[in-house]
Amino acid sequence: MSIDKSLIRSEILHAVKEPEELRKERISEIEKIVSKLNELKRKEGLEFEVFIGGSLAKGTDIKGSDVDVFLLFGSEFDPFRVLSALRETFPDGKEEYSEHPYITLERGGFSVDLVPGYRVASPNDLRTSVDRTPLHVEFVKKTFDEEMKDEARILKQFLKGIGVYGAESSVRGMSGYVAELLIYQFRTFENVLKEASKWRIPVVIGNAPKEFNGASMVLMDPVDTERNAAANVSRENIATFILAASLFRWERWKEFFFPKQGTFSMPEGTVVIRFVCRKCNPEIVIPNLRRASEVLTKELESKGFRVQYSSVLLEKTGYITIVPEATYLGDAELHIGPPVNSRNVSSFLGKWGSGTRFGMPFILGDRIAVLKERRVRKIEEAVAEIIPKVKMAKDLDPKKVLIISGKDLGSLPERVRAGIVTPSLGEWASHPSGDVQRDDPESNES
Ligand code: CTP
Ligand code: MG
Repeated sequence: MSIDKSLIRSEILHAVKEPEELRKERISEIEKIVSKLNELKRKEGLEFEVFIGGSLAKGTDIKGSDVDVFLLFGSEFDPFRVLSALRETFPDGKEEYSEHPYITLERGGFSVDLVPGYRVASPNDLRTSVDRTPLHVEFVKKTFDEEMKDEARILKQFLKGIGVYGAESSVRGMSGYVAELLIYQFRTFENVLKEASKWRIPVVIGNAPKEFNGASMVLMDPVDTERNAAANVSRENIATFILAASLFRWERWKEFFFPKQGTFSMPEGTVVIRFVCRKCNPEIVIPNLRRASEVLTKELESKGFRVQYSSVLLEKTGYITIVPEATYLGDAELHIGPPVNSRNVSSFLGKWGSGTRFGMPFILGDRIAVLKERRVRKIEEAVAEIIPKVKMAKDLDPKKVLIISGKDLGSLPERVRAGIVTPSLGEWASHPSGDVQRDDPESNES
């Protein structure tokens, strides 16, 4: 069977590009927002220029792209004054935080970010990372033709399909701008994949320094040669991209670009820790949950519970999921003492010399040891003991932590139960000939 790549290409573009009438609706919504902003400017006596940036301005937007509207100030501004003025003008806006607070609006199927920043003429004058945006827009407009813009759209959808699109900390994937820079460097989607299938981490692209603050990917920003545009891409996401690039076949393009969600069951023994958010800023809560999950895993391991897998999820509430090897440990715990020629032997024997109900002390290598009573035997008890000692962000309510296991796992929202292994590879990772069976006795899928 021969593959008509150009037909597939237009099918992908048809699926990802916003239909013209929706685009028009979107633009008229934006016009309304811009005129409200100009009104606010007059009323509050604020000196800023409204700038439509992001992928819509660059012509690389896909369905689901947000609209990035910037308020660019010529001189010092008070971010909190701007925020309160924005909130007054857009009462339905949601407050978000990056370097400065900003507002997100939901408008019939798309979201609009209203982000304050500074208007700069050159990258030497940057004050916040937002200030680069107009330079990015200018760069893409200047160097991309229509075909390259479409190639960027195709690459963005591919990254989305395999789950590595988005620079936000919940994803730590490639930003839209990184996708554009890859197209700038390698011209076509297909060339990018050809290159990516050969990458080794750390990935260094173009004339970039080999080492850049320990980043897993180095792709210098052409508008600001001091900045690695791919600084926050995680090792896991690059590895996922490398794997997807090497497995990609045009015959199976849908599995990569538009994968179907599989259904999976939660492993027996899973423990989920649920945290209620007082204020749910993902840029704060997700890194905090990740750190907490690392500490929890380490502590559980030191108590004898081997953790096979752990993940975090933020879905209005925060979740840490732990998949231990076993949920219950035996009543005896090995307690290893000092080497036999150490001065501390006598104090060890002073305490344990007459043995325990399991027997007398014994020698392990050159050390003295004993089997003692295990205090914490159930994983839930161990988790309950550890969690209060873990430093949690102020955004999470320490009084409302819930440990969920056993039958209670069934009460968790579907999204939490379905996404147990997260992020996971999609159906594209299944065997190319499709003859691999899932290791699940209940599944009758082939
Ligand atoms: N930006 C950046 N680096 C990031 C995130 C954002 O430089 N890690 C800048 C880019 O100039 C980008 C703009 O912020 O164009 C808006 O960000 P975003 O909406 O995430 O990217 P888009 O290019 O608009 O892509 P999308 O289609 O996903 O909205
Ligand atoms: Mg955008």
